[in-house]
Amino acid sequence: MHLTDEERRILDGAFGEPQRIALSVLVKLGNAYDADRMVEIASAHIVGSSYQIAGEAGIEIYGRLVEQGARVKVRTTSDPGSIDFARWREFKTPADYADRQIKIAELLGRMGVIPTWTCTPYTTFNVPRFGEDLGWSESSAVVFANSVIGARTNRLAAYVDVCAALVGRVPRFGLHLPECRRGEVLFELAPDLSESFEDHFFPVLGFFVGQRTGDRIPVITGVRHATFDQLKAFGAAAAASGSVALYHMVGITPEARTLEEAFGARLPAERIAVGRREIVLTMEQMSRGERGAVDVVGVGCPHASIDQMRRYATLLRGKRIHSGIELWICANTVVEDMARKMGYVEAIEQSGAKLMVGTCHNDCPLGAWGFRRLVTDSGKFAYYTPTTVGTECIFASTEACIEAALTGRVERL
Ligand code: F3S
Repeated sequence: MHLTDEERRILDGAFGEPQRIALSVLVKLGNAYDADRMVEIASAHIVGSSYQIAGEAGIEIYGRLVEQGARVKVRTTSDPGSIDFARWREFKTPADYADRQIKIAELLGRMGVIPTWTCTPYTTFNVPRFGEDLGWSESSAVVFANSVIGARTNRLAAYVDVCAALVGRVPRFGLHLPECRRGEVLFELAPDLSESFEDHFFPVLGFFVGQRTGDRIPVITGVRHATFDQLKAFGAAAAASGSVALYHMVGITPEARTLEEAFGARLPAERIAVGRREIVLTMEQMSRGERGAVDVVGVGCPHASIDQMRRYATLLRGKRIHSGIELWICANTVVEDMARKMGYVEAIEQSGAKLMVGTCHNDCPLGAWGFRRLVTDSGKFAYYTPTTVGTECIFASTEACIEAALTGRVERL
């Protein structure tokens, strides 16, 4: 791999030990993927901010980096932590566990990481521009940045993201190269599905696309309109059930104004028809439990936007959550603050629902709750929570989730 004079000096230790270590990790990664050179990044986003992911090793590594004077070189934001920093006692998080997360927060703060604690950094202080190179991890954020914004990042692993932040570079391969961003698999929505594509079909379609496409780049035709939140839900599901880091939705995402643009000069390697039957079967697959009584409802995965907060507030205003049921809405502090100013938080909290800020069901230790059945409108939660929370999981629309919280039962999807 070609290295600049400055990069050679970094490797010689001229800029300190943290930068030397970080760049040598990135050079190894680049050599493994035949990168021709490094590329400067506009920002980094790191997942090792969570104690659940970083563990004791993270505390040790970050501690050593801080001692050696490490500072991030580009704007760097943190993914959700493993606690709600303001309410961890309310969520029954063990005190020693909370202490470990607080320690990680302190160390990252000393390195200059912006404590966004969110999987939607693009709703806070890390808003990429079209064509910018990034060094991001967090599958749902990576797929959003690549697909919806048209920025360029591979899906970095924990700690590699920190290395990228420390030197402000990543090796140039994969999704940094225009020729590697073209579509590979075509998903064609049937006309009748296309005509009446409902809000909760977005995470279901994402789940289906992820399963069928794996790590290839899917192109979807037939979606006529999609909101910010629908694209967020679609991408998060596709990145969870497959390892989709970039998708193109023809007529909607910026690198797919036409089908030809989405595929470049290539023909699709595979064409997959999607009808109502695929949607229904995938929804059944996403629910590993029967209709009936539930004990926890989880929405806001990926973290809720201000529009979603308004939607929850509208559905909950003047109502009361069923006794014995927990409805937790995951969000970041920026959205929480704005939602509070707009009166949404008041309506949500008066109903008995709780905001879970800076973390989520998936990242927090919830053993003390003994939950058995979770309902969610998120494809990513549907994929992970049976393992991470250990519950049966039922996927339903946002409205059906809120109804389940109010009645204690899920009867419709
Ligand atoms: Fe975010 Fe947690 Fe979902 S990190 S994408 S709310 S699983």
